[in-house]
Amino acid sequence: MKAWLLDTFSGIGSIHLAEVPDPIVGEGEVLVEMRYAALNPADRYLAEKQYPAKPPLPHILGRDGVGIVRRIGHGVKGIQVGQECIILRSEIGVNRAGTFAQLVAVPVESLAAVPGQWTATQAAGAALVYLTAYQALTQWGELPEGVILITGASGGVGVASIQLARAMGHTVVALSRSRAKRDELQKLGAQFTYDPADPQWPDELKKTISPRRVDLAIDNIGGDLLPMVINTLGDHGRVSLVGRLAGPVPQFNTATLFFRRLRLGGVAVGAYTATETTAAWREVVALLAKSGAKPVVDRVFDFEQLPNAFDRLAQGPLGKVLLKIRD
Ligand SMILES: NC(=O)c1ccc[n+]([C@@H]2O[C@H](COP(=O)([O-])OP(=O)(O)OC[C@H]3O[C@@H](n4cnc5c(N)ncnc54)[C@H](OP(=O)(O)O)[C@@H]3O)[C@@H](O)[C@H]2O)c1
Repeated sequence: MKAWLLDTFSGIGSIHLAEVPDPIVGEGEVLVEMRYAALNPADRYLAEKQYPAKPPLPHILGRDGVGIVRRIGHGVKGIQVGQECIILRSEIGVNRAGTFAQLVAVPVESLAAVPGQWTATQAAGAALVYLTAYQALTQWGELPEGVILITGASGGVGVASIQLARAMGHTVVALSRSRAKRDELQKLGAQFTYDPADPQWPDELKKTISPRRVDLAIDNIGGDLLPMVINTLGDHGRVSLVGRLAGPVPQFNTATLFFRRLRLGGVAVGAYTATETTAAWREVVALLAKSGAKPVVDRVFDFEQLPNAFDRLAQGPLGKVLLKIRD
């Protein structure tokens, strides 16, 4: 089969397309012929050795995707050859071979059916980002209807967070540096949008939603945006820390947390067990079915164009960037 290989942890620029042996299908696993795979910033972090996982090299990146079951391993029940399925968040593309390949062996518990009414491209990039958004929204327990602020809202996790938060009945505030994307985010369900580069945005937001404040922020960005996000929280406000695309927070005053009794909590989608992943995925699919929202695809690149697809991801997409492996 053909696969994109990472030979050294020297960054995404070093991946190359090669002919490699087909995967061995172990007990409890199935062989999936990939149709579409999705890119995630974590692929780049892993390639740059900035990620906890250090898989043996050469490694095949790619955590998400949709494909057709072609062979069934020993001990597998409840799945048929020819069935189309989604690969749920697992060790695929992390500590074992990933989805930037024509074939991938997947533990059967990490597969799910493509939800009715979703296309293969909508399904391909959904699992990791919706599961992350779901954890970010639910990790604090029952959340009464409130105001949710989302940074990096145009990205995979951001769009998923907007859609799930709206389906849960919350008011959504979304940040994006691009005016055109802010308009699109309003169409996707954000009631208020702001440019994080405008230093006035926290005051404007507080004025607009007064006397309410932000109840929960989902932060994909970090950097010097985080203290501004904290400024907008109300009493007992929380921040689900998902990503840090703008790097470390340069200055942070812990006193900003004291008086409103604010809480910050890390999100780790990889901490879900396979059982928790399946349960969370069911909730995600049910919420989207209830609201009628569908995953958003930014752009689809041909299999040979993976480096261009990573360039697009680095620019800041609207939704998911995909790789077409077989139509
Ligand atoms: N903790 C977890 O379990 C977990 C799981 C999944 C993802 N993540 C992390 O969460 C973050 C977001 O993931 P994603 O898949 O949504 O990423 P993405 O699709 O690349 O989108 C991120 C968005 O953030 C904005 N952005 C990008 N770089 C920025 C910068 N330097 N400064 C300010 N804004 C920037 C862009 O929006 P605009 O151009 O519109 O501003 C972009 O569309 C990543 O760091 C990822 O590694 C963590």
